[in-house]
Amino acid sequence: MSNVEAAVEPRNEYVDFWNTILVPKFVRWRHIIVDGLTLHSAKIFPSLEVQEGDKVVDAGCGFGDTAIQLARLVGPTGSVLAVDCCDGFLAYGRDDARAAGVSNVTFLEADVQSYPFKPEHDFCFSRFGTQFFESPVAGLRNMRKTLKPGGVMTMVVWRGIKDNPWLGHAKEVVLKFLPPPGENALSCGPGPFSMADTGVVTKQLEIAGYTGIEFEQVDAELFVGKDVDDAVAFQLALGPAGEVYREAGELAEKRHDEIAAALRVELAKYQRPNGIIMDSSSWKVTARNPG
Ligand SMILES: C[S@@+](CC[C@H](N)C(=O)[O-])C[C@H]1O[C@@H](n2cnc3c(N)ncnc32)[C@H](O)[C@@H]1O
Repeated sequence: MSNVEAAVEPRNEYVDFWNTILVPKFVRWRHIIVDGLTLHSAKIFPSLEVQEGDKVVDAGCGFGDTAIQLARLVGPTGSVLAVDCCDGFLAYGRDDARAAGVSNVTFLEADVQSYPFKPEHDFCFSRFGTQFFESPVAGLRNMRKTLKPGGVMTMVVWRGIKDNPWLGHAKEVVLKFLPPPGENALSCGPGPFSMADTGVVTKQLEIAGYTGIEFEQVDAELFVGKDVDDAVAFQLALGPAGEVYREAGELAEKRHDEIAAALRVELAKYQRPNGIIMDSSSWKVTARNPG
């Protein structure tokens, strides 16, 4: 299987935001996104219902590290279709797969919500991708349509901001200096905490046609910076604190030094020998395609 594929589709506002605003920031902070989230998914991967020989989809695969991990799990008789709406991320996945000698993964640029997938997969996975769908039910339904009857979907989504101090603490600090984003703020979609409520997500999955819906709480420590300065710069670029900072424009630039100093004090509390480590919490959500 080749590992390059592209589907040209009309973009929506959120997909545009990912491509223009977030890709450069994610690339700049790739060491935190990839290494940080790896600590988290290390807790999730051992219990995934993936077998050797399976055909798998990784929806919203970002830099493709989980797709490569899945490709290794299914082995040469299986395959992984790794999908993201940003080719800027997929380029890293293609390079990393090639460098690792992993040839059973195909990287596809497409909107997961609308791409006409074939119902030929055993397993559909998404780590922190589905929370950003403009239309969660349409996206979840389309993920179900990737599956054979009896196929399994597992998505990992953040629990609430209070359960995720790695994102919440910095936002609290920044809001002491800057106003919250207005109603017309540019956005990456519903956002990291949009699937925190198990009641809402259960309903979304039921409407999308899934059965056998299960939630498992997964708590993990996250690497959020090599040192305090790295962690401060990361928080001002991405996540809820980064959104407040970006939307405040010139005011944020003017108050940068005070904000950074206050963040430094907060984040220094989480310094360990290997960097800044903070708590995070997610739901591992598993659901089945009845066919
Ligand atoms: C927080 S990142 C997670 C990336 C990766 N799964 C990981 O765990 O590192 C969310 C990803 O979802 C992708 N995404 C958001 N909406 C999408 C959509 N409608 N179709 C495809 N990908 C989407 C973004 O481009 C981004 O790569």
